[in-house]
Formats: sequence, structure tokens, C-alpha cells
Amino acid sequence: MLQGDNRMKKIAVFASGSGSNYQAIIDAIKTGKLKASVELLVCDQPKAYVLDRAKSEQTPTFQFEPKTYGSKEEFEKEIVSELRKYDVEFLILAGYMRLIGPTLLKEFSNRIINIHPSLLPSFPGKNAIGQAFQAGVKVTGVTVHFVDEGMDTGPIIAQQALVIDQDDTEETLAEKIHEIEHELYPETIQSLFEQLFVKKEEVTP
Ligand code: GRF
Repeated sequence: MLQGDNRMKKIAVFASGSGSNYQAIIDAIKTGKLKASVELLVCDQPKAYVLDRAKSEQTPTFQFEPKTYGSKEEFEKEIVSELRKYDVEFLILAGYMRLIGPTLLKEFSNRIINIHPSLLPSFPGKNAIGQAFQAGVKVTGVTVHFVDEGMDTGPIIAQQALVIDQDDTEETLAEKIHEIEHELYPETIQSLFEQLFVKKEEVTP
């Protein structure tokens, strides 16, 4: 017997920038590829383009300015109380340019996911596409992973490789990487949700 856990998962997207991955998630939900609802967009940059996207998509937002708080713990506690209001189950980081602290990690243990534009553990941190391009590697790619306290160090869930062509520039490489991200992220999130569902079903008598 199923435990009735095949319902839409309630997610929050965390972003600091353009939000093309937020948009890809929204679009995958609209086409039925991802069985989730974006309950909240959390953004730490008041001028980020992702906020315009959230307005158009009517996603509620929680915007905050880290420098107006005394510590990471303080603003993460406020984020937690917002997330609770919406019964959020999973945190999906999509270009959120901050390390997640102990407050959020404890509250959402094993339920925080990130996407990174390189084949981790190579090129963690900022400007991963530029780092890979400048290093002259012939293959790079995209990684989806669980978030832990480190910088892009959590357990890997999925990766997709990409061969760098001789005539690629950093810009064409970035375009190709983003194209992969927009497919891989929603797909990986959905398959993770399905695995959780299967696991629950397996343990049900
Ligand atoms: C993506 O390349 C993602 O891998 C990285 O930050 C970028 C965010 O892009 N973590 P966007 O804001 O979703 O367009």
C-alpha cells in the first residue's frame, strides 16, 4: 500500500541573480515534468532579476539584506520562520551566492539541493565556468548535489559532462552549460522525489 506521498512537493527556491534556473523549474512544473510547487522564492539581492521573474510568475518572495542583520544565524532564523509558514519541504538553491549555515542545515537536513556549473569536485566556488575555461580542461559539465556545510562539497546526486570545443569561448561555454542546467536540474529533482516515494513504498507493509 502507498503512503500517499506522491503529492506535489512544496519547495522554496533560493537565488541571488538572474534566476534562469528558477524559471526552468517553474516551466518544468507547468509542463508537468516536475511535480512540485514553488511556495517561496528567497532572495538576498534586492535588485536581482529573479525577483522580476517571481513577480511575473506570482511566486511569493522573501527578500532580505544580509548586512542589516547581526549574523547569519539571525537571518537564517527569519528564513526558517518564513519557510514554515509555507510548509516548505525542500530547499532548491539556484545561484544563491551564500554558504548555508547550521540553522538552515539543521532544519532541512538532507533536503537542501544545489546546482553547480562544473564537474565537482573540480572548480568549486565562484565563476566555475571561467575557472574551467581558463584551466584549459577539455571536459566540464554540471553537478547537482546535496548541500552540506562546505563550499560545493555535499554528496553528488547527478552530473552531466560537456566536451569543450576548440572554438568555444567562455561565453559559448556558459550558454551550453546553462542549457544543460535547465534540463538537468528539474529532471534530477523529480527523480529524487520519485526515489523518496519508492523508498517509502518499499518500507510500507
Ligand atoms: C548557475 O550557473 C548555477 O549553476 C550556479 O549559479 C548560476 C545561476 O544562474 N549555482 P541563474 O541565476 O539560475 O541564471
